[in-house]
Amino acid sequence: MNHKQIRQIFLSFFKRKKHNIITSASIVAKKDSSLMFTNAGMNIFKDFFIGNKKSPYSIIANCQKCLRITGKHNDLFEVGKDTYHHTMFEMLGNWSFGDYFKKEAIKWAWELLTECYKIDKANIYVTIFKGNKEDNLSFDSESFKYWKNKIDESQILFFDKKHNFWEMGTTGPCGTCTEIHVDLRNEKDKLKLPGNNLVNKKHPLVIELWNIVFIQFLRQSDGTLVKLPTCHVDTGMGFERLCMILQKKQSTYDTDIFTSLIKYIAQNTDQIYGVTETIDLAIRIIADHMRAVVFAIADGIRPSNKKYGYVIRKILRRIIVTYYLTLNINKPFVFKLVKPIIGYMNHSDLNTSPLQSYISTLILSEETLFLTTIKLGINKLYKIIDQLRYKKCHMIAVKIIYWLYETYGLPLEISKRITNKNNIQVDS
Ligand code: SER
Repeated sequence: MNHKQIRQIFLSFFKRKKHNIITSASIVAKKDSSLMFTNAGMNIFKDFFIGNKKSPYSIIANCQKCLRITGKHNDLFEVGKDTYHHTMFEMLGNWSFGDYFKKEAIKWAWELLTECYKIDKANIYVTIFKGNKEDNLSFDSESFKYWKNKIDESQILFFDKKHNFWEMGTTGPCGTCTEIHVDLRNEKDKLKLPGNNLVNKKHPLVIELWNIVFIQFLRQSDGTLVKLPTCHVDTGMGFERLCMILQKKQSTYDTDIFTSLIKYIAQNTDQIYGVTETIDLAIRIIADHMRAVVFAIADGIRPSNKKYGYVIRKILRRIIVTYYLTLNINKPFVFKLVKPIIGYMNHSDLNTSPLQSYISTLILSEETLFLTTIKLGINKLYKIIDQLRYKKCHMIAVKIIYWLYETYGLPLEISKRITNKNNIQVDS
């Protein structure tokens, strides 16, 4: 199954269950002052959950573009290092606004995973909220009852609020959740240590796939929970992780969502992916961050020094520092990735060449500007290094490194790399 089929099977399944299928909303959360970017599929439905607005449909399914780079849910520094975190990802979700609840949500999740996607039942583990005194919440016995009818009890695990109570941020709609995890290890490893020991332990091959949240409360700014008048369902399944499982890969970066992009980056930088870990990590960071940048710009953000634009500029600069330092590229290059990225997403609204060329041009000018900044900063640093050498000094004060960053915009990582290469120690 390729990724497009996998996405379509999810949407068709819920269409058959009478859900209204809607397209992804913007990745930029401009209407919500508590957020900058859409960090979960449920953000756009917040008002429906709280009861401020009424949804035109009581049940919905979608595939929402999400970005986790700021606030409570921030995966920026996990990216590339492990095999399943992304800054931008797609979240498959089904939603009930006061319609169905735990029974149907659990039943359909199980049916979709085991009958349509044919994931082996023996590899599935589910987690259930075990209660929390502080919030006066009891064990989720209802979810337990429904899961017991489907899966062996040894595959049902109980966790506290950290894992099984989902909150959008410090305030907002929230509720207990039941999560579905999948063990992707080989049979030998499974025999040695059963998967139930590895759930929620950050094992790269025992991963959370789907979070089914039962929204019933509103967390207020004083930390207390208020019961909502109606119960809702908010589910979020990581699309990239689902592809990893169904395509039997060990990393989301090895799925067909990323392979052509990674190949393209490797070819354009004269590298071979899969040989050296530092190079691979750099390529993964570029592939992941570029998706975030492209879709944020497509959704109306311009890199700048303010708010949303600042965040996007920072990510783009992280990409440039990565290719400059690790892939030895000193000319604009990632603007060429816009076309393959848009091609993969197959969003018809983005497939117009004027939008593609607008995004490429914007990225090209950001790359040109920042590479010029780096060049000027490096010239300054070399002048300082020459003066130090003249004085037979092998030490540079860290405040000079910071001064170069603050005055000339020279990234600290680049200054440190250059001083290191020239046998100059940074004195802190
Ligand atoms: N809100 C939950 C999450 O983001 C499920 O959609 O994980």
